[in-house]
Amino acid sequence: MIRLDKFLSDNANLTRKTAKHALHRGDVTVDGVVVKKPDIKISNQQVRLNGELIEIVGDLYIMLHKPADYVCSTVDDDGLSVLNLIDAPWREKLHIAGRLDKDTTGLVLLTSDGKWSHQVTSPNAKCTKEYLVTVERPLSNELVTEFENGIMLNNENKPTKPAQLTILSEYRAKLVISEGKYHQVKRMFAAVGNHVKILHRSRVGELVLDESLKEGEWIKLTEQQYLSFS
Ligand code: URA
Repeated sequence: MIRLDKFLSDNANLTRKTAKHALHRGDVTVDGVVVKKPDIKISNQQVRLNGELIEIVGDLYIMLHKPADYVCSTVDDDGLSVLNLIDAPWREKLHIAGRLDKDTTGLVLLTSDGKWSHQVTSPNAKCTKEYLVTVERPLSNELVTEFENGIMLNNENKPTKPAQLTILSEYRAKLVISEGKYHQVKRMFAAVGNHVKILHRSRVGELVLDESLKEGEWIKLTEQQYLSFS
């Protein structure tokens, strides 16, 4: 059971205030009958706004391919928040589950489900993240062991957890980490005297960035995909 004005604001891209206005105007029917009261409780009835059936939106789980120059925060004065890439009426319900830096590209998860984002981002969740890294100076094989043993980062009091580095070429590597410290990948390479030039996140937990997604594009996760974090 849910109040009618809340049902409208949850599922019909209305605020509580504009939902009340729509009700007042007689734009809303419940099982075919015009209802003007915002506080009646509904459960399984058919609610229509201007004749259009309102589908229950439910929780949302989104995978986005973040382009460079977009920020992972809900507001950005230049309109370059990743949320602006989601041209759907329900985008205001979303928050970002695990941020990337402005210049980092790749997999970003967004959701309306606070518990789920906690599962994805919690340091205890042991959810690994895979990055493809291009660096400024040649990579040496010793780095694989150094990263496996943990690196002492600037302004931290304990080393990073074991991270798996796979060297792909002189300047490119794949790095898998299980934490999400601020600028972690860039700081790990800086701590060993290198510099990250290009950073791309290719996987979070079991979710691999869908190859068919171009930069700026997004898809809804399937139930099987979003349940992979529980
Ligand atoms: N580590 C970084 O340094 N930057 C990111 O965007 C993600 C991980």
